[in-house]
Amino acid sequence: MLRGKKILLGVCGSIAAYKSALLIRLLVKSGADVKVVMTSAAHDFISPLTLSTLSKNPTFSSFTNGENGEWNNHVDLGLWADLILIAPLSANTLAKLSNGICDNLLSVIYLSARCPVLLAPAMDLDMYKHPATVSNLEKVISFGNIILDAEHGELASGLIGQGRMAEPEHIIEFIESFITEKGPLRGKKVLVTAGPTFEAIDPVRFIGNHSSGKMGYALAEEAANLGASVVLVSGPSNQRIDHPMVKVEQVTSAWEMLEVCNTHYSKTDISIFAAAVADYRPEVMAEQKIKKSSETMVVELVKNPDIAAELGKIKTASQFNVGFALETENERQNATEKLKKKNFDMIVLNSLQDEGAGFSGDRNKVSIIDNNNIVMDFELKDKVEVAKDILQAILTRYEN
Ligand code: C5P
Repeated sequence: MLRGKKILLGVCGSIAAYKSALLIRLLVKSGADVKVVMTSAAHDFISPLTLSTLSKNPTFSSFTNGENGEWNNHVDLGLWADLILIAPLSANTLAKLSNGICDNLLSVIYLSARCPVLLAPAMDLDMYKHPATVSNLEKVISFGNIILDAEHGELASGLIGQGRMAEPEHIIEFIESFITEKGPLRGKKVLVTAGPTFEAIDPVRFIGNHSSGKMGYALAEEAANLGASVVLVSGPSNQRIDHPMVKVEQVTSAWEMLEVCNTHYSKTDISIFAAAVADYRPEVMAEQKIKKSSETMVVELVKNPDIAAELGKIKTASQFNVGFALETENERQNATEKLKKKNFDMIVLNSLQDEGAGFSGDRNKVSIIDNNNIVMDFELKDKVEVAKDILQAILTRYEN
């Protein structure tokens, strides 16, 4: 859900700092890249080692990095983050944020950041309802910050009331829906084809290919992270996806893939054809397992339907279709011809020329060509990052 999202977690001095450990685990589990900034008071409640280990990143506490004399650049950290979450937020740090006081790394990052800021206060009930706290909270809300209200229950003081930091599970739920709802593809329906297709020769054998499905799955997840409601039509693949906005339709053959795509296509805004569909299938599938009786064997093949081309024929003006091309010669020219032939709005050209890029691996090197013949070249990257580039390119061209 939060795959690829960069979250900067601020931890203040509060007994609720022990919950930050669980919070980090849940953020990381959801796919986020987490960096932690602690105030000095937070050190009394939880160790930076715990937070660094769980976040898999160094934890920052001061402006400089110990003996190395390195500077923990607050501007870079602020700009790095897609979202800042301060949990627990102490009354003291709240007072600093509301007044622009920046006497520690966290409060300076807060002032430098451009991304949304979520604040999860934690304090004793009387502190929480004190007019100074109430007015500070109102002030940071007026800056556009979002408050995750403290919850009601037993407090460290033994008193019962409102002041407990929101439970980590509630914070994660909020962040996931916040990111989705703010997404530029909110309300849009996206169809993605992924993986290979298997074309049966007999009940136990098939013609297939080495497509892993990684590219298509990463595209489906990224589209969902941007707020789209996604149907992922997948051929046989070991990839898994667990995202409430992605509905997976498992298929085996090209015909099945076409049938499933057909049922969704008229309601789809954006279609991305990332599947490596088998071009041919055996003309007949033997009903029984074929015996090895002769020295040679001929399997007659017939052409499969071209799913992207078929749907391209019925594409309306408001629909946007994206295809892939894997070429070994005259790459750009062939890709551009394919774009026209299949009525794509954009085509992603996979390079086979670069080591480490391709079909079954984790990385890809692509060029994106649009129907105005504008070409964008990208570096060799992890497929999750490539998916982000492709979705960003779609967003700049898709106008509905
Ligand atoms: O013609 P070629 O296979 O190179 O075209 C690649 C593009 O067309 C990809 O986007 C692929 O998913 C799509 N395609 C398809 N159905 C086929 C063959 C290709 O949707 N039978």
